[in-house]
Order: sequence, then C-alpha cells, then structure tokens
Amino acid sequence: MEVIIQHDEEAATVLAARIIARRLRAKPKLVLGLATGRTMERVYAKLAEMHRKEGLDFSLCQTFNLDEYVGLAPDNRDSYHFFMKEHLFSRINIDIRNTHLPNGMAADLEKECENYERLIANAGGIDLQLLGIGADGHIGFNEPLSALKSRTREKALTPATIRQNGPLFDSPDKMPRRGLTMGVGTILESKQCLLLATGAEKAEILARAVEGPITSMISASALQLHQRCCIVTDEAAASRLEEKDYYRWVFENEPEWADFRK
Ligand code: GLP
Repeated sequence: MEVIIQHDEEAATVLAARIIARRLRAKPKLVLGLATGRTMERVYAKLAEMHRKEGLDFSLCQTFNLDEYVGLAPDNRDSYHFFMKEHLFSRINIDIRNTHLPNGMAADLEKECENYERLIANAGGIDLQLLGIGADGHIGFNEPLSALKSRTREKALTPATIRQNGPLFDSPDKMPRRGLTMGVGTILESKQCLLLATGAEKAEILARAVEGPITSMISASALQLHQRCCIVTDEAAASRLEEKDYYRWVFENEPEWADFRK
C-alpha cells in the first residue's frame, strides 16, 4: 500500500485523475472499475475535462461499477446508473455498451450478481479499480462484517450509510435499504486499486483502514492485502495518520511517482 498526501482536495482529485489517465494512455483497452459518491463527482469532472482539452480517449475502455441500489431503475435520478451517465459517460467518448453496472431491478438478484462476476472475468479482470471510502469504512457497499472473500452480492445498508447517502436523495426516506455490490474478494482481485479520500470527516476511518488491523468490520482495511494499492488523500483526510512523514518520503523518492511530483 502507498499513501500519497496532497495539500488540498483539488490537488488530490487532480492526482487521482492523472493516475487513471496515465493507465488509460498506456492501455487504451483498459478495464476500469468505477465508484460513485461526492468524492468521485470531482474526479469525473477532471476526467471529462482531460477528454475535452487533451483528447483523453475512452473509446476502447470498458468500465465496471462497484455497486447499485436495489429497486432503482437506471433512469431513476438517484440510481448509480443515472449518476454515472450524468457525471461521466455522457461527457466522454465511451461506448455505452462497454459500461457495466449491476442491475438492481433484476428479477433474480442472485443470478444478476453471478452474471456480473462472469462479465468481469470475461473482460479479463479489472485493471484499475477506483474506490472511495464510506463513513463506516465500506468500499462499494461492503458494509461492516463483509467477508474478506465476499463476491458480488446483495447487501443490507447500515444506518451509517443511510445517514451518509440519504441527503443525496430528493427525499431521504426513499433511499433503498439494500444494494448490490462487488465483494471485497472481487475488489482484491483487481490488478491495481486507487482509493481517494478527502475531507476531515474521512480522517478517523481512513486512519483505521490504513494503519489499523485488517478486519471485516472495516472493509477498506482489506486493501492492506492488495499487491498494488494506492491511497490518495488531502491533508484533512490524512490528519489522523501517524506515519505521514514516511508516506511523504516514499512519494518523494519512488521513481514511479516522478511524473506526479511538481
Ligand atoms: C457510496 C458508494 C461508495 C463510496 C461512498 C463514498 O456509499 N457506494 O462506493 O465510496 O459512497 O461517498 P462520498 O464520496 O460521498 O463520501
């Protein structure tokens, strides 16, 4: 795991977008895992800008989103299908047939989840998985006690998640109580993970995920097992990390990051 601390939210967002862009330029047929949430809105705005201004090309890229609410149709404004179209897919040159999200309206949700796993495998697995972190430490909708080997499945959402995401709904009581999500095991199989966390409200849970023990109570802590995981944060979200100086030293000295140091 590597932790890159940037001064503020803007710098952290730009860095995350540049990491994605570099991978996409190196491999135009990139299989990209995507996430949702307020943090990702800003990343997608940057990627759309890079597409517009620098010609960043998504035409051969395939995407797989982490999760979707159960019971929301793709044209529902609160669905993640809608979120992705609005914030990213309609703003870049991606072939919409190459974009995938689990279908929370499927008649047989279990089959839908199995099928989603199959689609990912058929695509050759995820090259780069983008992640946020929930207030309760979830990645995707892998709520506390999610098995570290879990696969794509239906999951009940916790009160913490309902509190966190409810305000994003026109009427918070309409927020579904269940979601479909890639499992922790599915996420750990991606070739590279990139987690972006910004803002003081993420500081405590981020420190527990990065520096605390690996536990199914905090799904993001499972990323400590990943062979290639990078955490990008701003100073506010990094404020509870104990080894900040060490992380800064690594970032300054790792040849891999030379292009990303100003
Ligand atoms: C939702 C998503 C998660 C995401 C989280 C972070 O719960 N299911 O994948 O990590 O939001 O949200 P925000 O960026 O709004 O803090």
